[in-house]
Amino acid sequence: MANVVLEDIYKSFPARNKQQKKVESSPTVESEQGSATDATSVLRRINLTVADSEFMVLVGPSGCGKSTLLRLIAGLEDVTAGNIWVGDRKINTLPPKDRDIAMVFQSYALYPHMTVYNNLAFGLRRTRFKRAKNVDRKVREVADSLQIDALLDRKPKQLSGGQKQRVALGRAMARDPQVFLMDEPLSNLDAKLRAQTRAQIVKLQRQLATTTIYVTHDQTEAMTMGDRIAVMDGGVIQQIAPPLELYRSPANRFVAGFIGSPPMNFLPVQVSGPLTLHHPQFQLTIPEAWGKALQAYLDQTITLGIRPEHLNIAPASQGIPLQVELVEALGAETYLSCVLEGNAQGADVPIFQARIPPDQSAQAGDTLFLVPKLEHIHLFDPQSGRALAR
Ligand SMILES: Nc1ncnc2c1ncn2[C@@H]1O[C@H](COP(=O)(O)OP(=O)(O)O)[C@@H](O)[C@H]1O
Ligand SMILES: [Mg+2]
Repeated sequence: MANVVLEDIYKSFPARNKQQKKVESSPTVESEQGSATDATSVLRRINLTVADSEFMVLVGPSGCGKSTLLRLIAGLEDVTAGNIWVGDRKINTLPPKDRDIAMVFQSYALYPHMTVYNNLAFGLRRTRFKRAKNVDRKVREVADSLQIDALLDRKPKQLSGGQKQRVALGRAMARDPQVFLMDEPLSNLDAKLRAQTRAQIVKLQRQLATTTIYVTHDQTEAMTMGDRIAVMDGGVIQQIAPPLELYRSPANRFVAGFIGSPPMNFLPVQVSGPLTLHHPQFQLTIPEAWGKALQAYLDQTITLGIRPEHLNIAPASQGIPLQVELVEALGAETYLSCVLEGNAQGADVPIFQARIPPDQSAQAGDTLFLVPKLEHIHLFDPQSGRALAR
């Protein structure tokens, strides 16, 4: 068991000739960027310490560099700069097989011609368990804990997605590595199985207490699985924090919009007094705790952030006037998709979402007034996106 330390990691890929050739015939945004510089920078100044036994989730939109970062740790790619430590071993110069790390891939990457038994045993025969008796004991132990013991004689193509996923997990577990890396291991499962397997992986990880870095683009997965979460965007870590801290105190507008579902609503407001936020459609007086942060923004426009669950329906003509466009009553709660009153209808009008208790009624076409729960609002610098501090 060991911690994992990523120290000032940078990764660039050389521009690919093939891509540059394509530019001439069919220019795309991506290839234009590729031709602008010699190398594509994919990860920049990544610093992350994962504690011994911790379940760390890396989350971010597709293309932000999550898989690349895992591949650097596993040794499937070389870092451009920086160091990777597992405990007191610097591993970034070691070949993958000497890193004592097991990776579970999104595609499972099982050997199709081998039985489940041999898929589990294959890696072991080259490790410290290499004596036949030990391999057999380890395979059966892992198969038992993942409830795949009845499947040991099957080939991968005779397995369901969920079963394949468990075999892939079992193969990683059997090696008893110092670190697990998992790259979107649930993304090929249907919603119900995904939720079940999510819980199972968390439970297994707690039992084994193996330091784990788990990659997903799904913020729900991140929130429910991680001891801590590192949010990435554009090859940069935006914030590292436990799930509820990310939700309550996002460091910037990106994190605020990415964590939470439905996402936070953002509105431009003018700071028109020491504690007054002015919008053409409404005005808010916010708690005194914001006074200091607002001083620097007097008369300027900043961004107000309100989560859908932090809104109350107001009796009349106070708060934010909204036109309800869609009502989704889910039983336990109701979601409203609205547009600001006075905004023209159209595809590019921002949707404002609210979550209200199921006993409050609203219909498409209604005009509602919603009042933010002021102790839960967020404010952001309009240029940098950085969250203002209370
Ligand atoms: N071998 C490679 N050569 C060039 N570019 C790559 C290579 N691998 C990944 N990339 C680029 O790096 C970026 C991040 O990719 P990836 O790490 O797969 O993102 P994620 O896993 O977050 O979706 C993407 O823009 C991708 O096109
Ligand atoms: Mg990926």
